[in-house]
Amino acid sequence: MTQPALSHAVNTAFANDVRAGLTHAPQKELPSMYLYDEVGSALFEVITALPEYGVTRSEEQLLTRHANDIVAALPHDVTVAELGSGSGRKTRRILEALSRKRPTSATSYCPIEISRTALQLCRRELGDIERIAIVGYERDYLAGLAEVSSERKPGEPLLVLFLGSTIGNFGRLAGTRFLRDIRQMLKPGDMLLLGTDLDKPVDTLVDAYDDPVGVTAAFNLNLLARINRELDGDFPLDAFEHVARFNRDARSIEMHLRATRRVTAHVRAANLTVTLEEGETIWTESSHKYRVEEIDAMAHDAGFGCEQQWIERDWGFAESLLVAR
Ligand code: AVI
Repeated sequence: MTQPALSHAVNTAFANDVRAGLTHAPQKELPSMYLYDEVGSALFEVITALPEYGVTRSEEQLLTRHANDIVAALPHDVTVAELGSGSGRKTRRILEALSRKRPTSATSYCPIEISRTALQLCRRELGDIERIAIVGYERDYLAGLAEVSSERKPGEPLLVLFLGSTIGNFGRLAGTRFLRDIRQMLKPGDMLLLGTDLDKPVDTLVDAYDDPVGVTAAFNLNLLARINRELDGDFPLDAFEHVARFNRDARSIEMHLRATRRVTAHVRAANLTVTLEEGETIWTESSHKYRVEEIDAMAHDAGFGCEQQWIERDWGFAESLLVAR
């Protein structure tokens, strides 16, 4: 009985966000979180395997090499919460190291995901690790973290995982604000493992977000396809092309969908008719890149100290272990 009400609520929020974003002037935009329906999440998995997209590979390398060092820096009886469990592949390294470190007792792992399907995948991917008890939270990040944090036993320390450079999909200020929100749910001594993609040459970034096979283009275009499917829209997908461009001021790579001709589309469930002129774009995502010293400053502003940092220099990725002050 609760399922229809839940999906109705999600669709209403989606319809409202689509209406607000596509009537936003002068730049039409859509929130990047809507890239991740079932099709978008599957396409993102393929992106992570592309030779041009080094983000995931680089972080996996760091976690494979340093899982034991990371776990050695944690309190003994830590509970692990993860914001967005993804496919679970990277997290496996940490959980296996924890399982080795604690051969006689179980560690709780609490993935927090808005998508039930993602939680099921995560259980399937990580359910075989000995002495790891998976307790999924089908919530948005902050609501889920508030719950995990308040339900723990007195004195039990928490490690929050925020991997994959998802922080980069926030604006710079919004990223710091988000870390501050996380900090408010933690107690002094709790920890946050933060994955951050580092600054790199513009050509490398453009190739990573506009791959020659066209997977990222499909990932981006699927957002209009999703609007057509879920909100009774009629965007002609053949009238849009994927654009990845570097914004030098923001130091972010932006994804847009550009109309290749004048288009008028209807989104019936959002009660919207929208016209794009030829060449006009819809901004769908920003991925900010960081300098190492910026990560330290952002952590400090949010109420954390940087305890340890591991850097993969071939691609350029940092894993930072932050401690709540
Ligand atoms: C999930 N997020 C960190 C990815 C990124 O690199 O910003 C999403 C992505 N967009 C295009 N390619 C990958």
